[in-house]
Amino acid sequence: MKKQYVKKHKIEINLEVYDSVSELPQDIQKLMNKAQQAREDAYAPYSRFKVGAALTLHSGEIIIGNNQENAAFPSGLCAERVAIFHAGATHPKTNIKVMAITARSLQRELTSPIPPCGACRQAIAEYEIKQESPIAIYFMGETGKVAKAASIADLLPLLFNKSYL
Ligand code: THU
Repeated sequence: MKKQYVKKHKIEINLEVYDSVSELPQDIQKLMNKAQQAREDAYAPYSRFKVGAALTLHSGEIIIGNNQENAAFPSGLCAERVAIFHAGATHPKTNIKVMAITARSLQRELTSPIPPCGACRQAIAEYEIKQESPIAIYFMGETGKVAKAASIADLLPLLFNKSYL
C-alpha cells in the first residue's frame, strides 16, 4: 500500500449554549439588553437586518454599536466593528471583557444565534491579541438560544495575526 503523507489536523472549538436570555448571568443579561436597544437604533434601510452589539470594558463601562448601512453598499459597517472601533477610539488603553450581539430581521423572526461575520471576527481578534486577554462573545438572534464563545479565538481558528507580518 502507498504510504500516506497527508497529515490530518482536527481543530476543536468550544461554545456554550443557553436556552434563553433569562438563563444568562445577570450582568450578561444587562449587556444583552443594551445590545437589543442598540440594535433598534441600527441604520439598516437596505438589508432590513438590524444588528446590535454591546461590550463591557474592564472599567465596567458599556460601549455599544449597531450596523450602519450606505446606499453604496460596501461603505456600510457591521455592528460589531462599530462597537469595537468605538471602544478602540475612545478607550484605547482599557481592556474589553465581553461582547453581546443580537440581530433582528424585519422580514422574519430570527430564533437561532447569529454569529458575527468573518471580517468582524478578525477585527475583534485584533483587540484580543492586543490586550492579551480573552474577549468572551455572546450572540443570539431576536429570540431563543444564546451562544457563548469564551474567546474570539473559538470563533476564528487559524486567524491571521501580526506574527505573520
Ligand atoms: N451585519 C452586522 O452588523 N454584523 C454581522 O456580523 C453580519 C452582518 C450587518 C451588515 C448589514 O448591514 C446587514 O447586517 C446585512 O448583512
